[in-house]
Amino acid sequence: MEHLISPPGFGRRHFLSFWDLPDGGIETLLRRAEEFRLLRNLRESHATRPGRVLGMVFEKASTRTRASFEIAMFELGGHALYLGAQGSHLERGEPIRDTARVLSGYCHAIMIRTFAQQRAEELAAYANVPVINGLTDLLHPCQVLADLQTVAQRFGAHGGTHGSDIGRALQAVRYAWIGDGNNMANSWIEAAGILGLDLALACPPGHSPNADIVRRARATERGKITFCSDPIEAARGRHVLSTDVFASMGQEAEAEQRRGEFAGYCLDARLVAGADPAAIVLHCLPAHRGEEITDDVIEGPHSLVWRQAENRLHAQKALLESFL
Ligand code: CP
Ligand code: NVA
Repeated sequence: MEHLISPPGFGRRHFLSFWDLPDGGIETLLRRAEEFRLLRNLRESHATRPGRVLGMVFEKASTRTRASFEIAMFELGGHALYLGAQGSHLERGEPIRDTARVLSGYCHAIMIRTFAQQRAEELAAYANVPVINGLTDLLHPCQVLADLQTVAQRFGAHGGTHGSDIGRALQAVRYAWIGDGNNMANSWIEAAGILGLDLALACPPGHSPNADIVRRARATERGKITFCSDPIEAARGRHVLSTDVFASMGQEAEAEQRRGEFAGYCLDARLVAGADPAAIVLHCLPAHRGEEITDDVIEGPHSLVWRQAENRLHAQKALLESFL
């Protein structure tokens, strides 16, 4: 089947954060992601990148990211190579800059999931193929891309063919983030600054998002990024309620202490009741029911978490197509 639109090509740039995309890049990817979803549902072949190889470096655990990237590459006609820290020379101390140059000789792009953002940046600096951020301690842009697709699907943003249509639809929605000011929160803030979204966050004291990221997003003077001390206030009248775990990967030793510090920051029925009646609940998963989200909310009628997880596949196909 012919492309419904010309596949976007972002050249040889990296995707370490949303700032790496050109103006309108998020909107273009979201439109293409939705086309990929339709093509897959119609069982139409969409192998637009035959013979391409994605190297996937995982220094943290993953279910969704690994599965969705690997299947995306298969369905695009290419191949994904999994390289875990364990079982490779990474765990034995081989420098990431050496891994970058070796994989560049084999792969057409590299995805990395790691701890410090600087490690992903070092990989990108030494790779001569595009590098995609599959989660760092600082950012998780691939997930927020899928989250935006989920919002666009629910709030009817896919009618138009122009970037501004989907942009306008996303701007008409009001967003809330409840919980840790972590990698997910930071990527939502970047998206809010770039797309001009109205985002209210409620994070416990001492767990605010990265201040530089907030400053840069606000400097666009697009959208509105506000902080509330009360989660109920942040959620009030909002269309999208998002949350994530209290302790991210690498913070396991703090988990017990965090459970105390995050008391009252659970996305529960009270918060949903105060949100817009059509509100959707998002969680990137894995979820800890009874901690950051209650079982009745994640399993309830407002929850779109399974659709959100599925959208990782479609959104990443758009991303891979543009970077390969
Ligand atoms: N949401 C997400 O990135 O999930 P995984 O950790 O399973 O990849
Ligand atoms: N904030 C979580 C997201 C997992 C997908 C973490 O970094 O562990």
